[in-house]
Amino acid sequence: MTGKTAKKPIVELYGIKKKLGGKTVLDGVDLTIYEGETFVIIGQSGVGKSVTLKIIIGLMEPDDGEVWVMGENMTYADEKKWTEMRKHFGMLFQGGALFDSLTVGQNILFSLDHIRHELSDDDKVAKVRHALEIVGLPDTEDLMPAELSGGMMKRVALARAVVADPEIVLFDEPTTGLDPIMTANINELIVSVKQKLKTTFIVVTHDIKSAKMVGDRIGMIYKGRPVFLGTSKELEKSVDPFIRQFIEGNSQGPITEEYLQAIEKIKHERLHLK
Ligand SMILES: Nc1ncnc2c1ncn2[C@@H]1O[C@H](COP(=O)(O)OP(=O)(O)O)[C@@H](O)[C@H]1O
Ligand SMILES: [Mg+2]
Repeated sequence: MTGKTAKKPIVELYGIKKKLGGKTVLDGVDLTIYEGETFVIIGQSGVGKSVTLKIIIGLMEPDDGEVWVMGENMTYADEKKWTEMRKHFGMLFQGGALFDSLTVGQNILFSLDHIRHELSDDDKVAKVRHALEIVGLPDTEDLMPAELSGGMMKRVALARAVVADPEIVLFDEPTTGLDPIMTANINELIVSVKQKLKTTFIVVTHDIKSAKMVGDRIGMIYKGRPVFLGTSKELEKSVDPFIRQFIEGNSQGPITEEYLQAIEKIKHERLHLK
């Protein structure tokens, strides 16, 4: 490193392998995410992005490799240890449904109560208000979910994800299924909340535009392995034909059905030659 303060790793994956339904999903994923950055994991649908997130929060166990979170080796951690560790995480999953029968404030409080039950009621109320302010929805505690637009609902879900001051916030496809304007709004929201909180964000998406908009660094997974790691500028400049095809969204290019089948065939033959 050149004179800069050393970056501190907050999530480290070493040689992660995972098979699901008889298929190798992750085939040796190495990844270090640093404190305070927004790291985007990008890749085509079905490539193992959600599985990677689940491994990071201990909802899935890798078959091989090591998982470190906040400097702790979690590879062999039991459920009790993971439950404690998960308190350092906020999560915004696809859908991110709210409870219909609870107000906006109660929805967020529910989540806070779970993680920070030691806080006084006044402190909890203050935290709920603060979280709503951060996402640009002040004075909405008493609204019911049915009174919210889709965009507001996402904002509340994000307020709920950050209310307990997590060290790491995970987003799984936060803009999937949204129209382009809503997508841009949510990406702007992610960037603005990030500036206020300085927390580590890990965002999974298959949308290259979103990745470039929110990510400090981007990691691309392909065929079970990271194939690119760098800033969005570096991604843009990449001359790798796979990455170009992905960036430009071409159906023509090296990633064709025939190509994938050929790779499978070679892999198969190699296995049988050994
Ligand atoms: N619990 C599971 N059981 C069997 N297969 C699974 C399971 N979870 C995910 N998979 C498979 O693993 C692959 C990667 O899934 P996922 O991580 O959800 O992809 P994505 O990159 O779209 O998030 C897919 O082929 C999916 O069908
Ligand atoms: Mg997914």
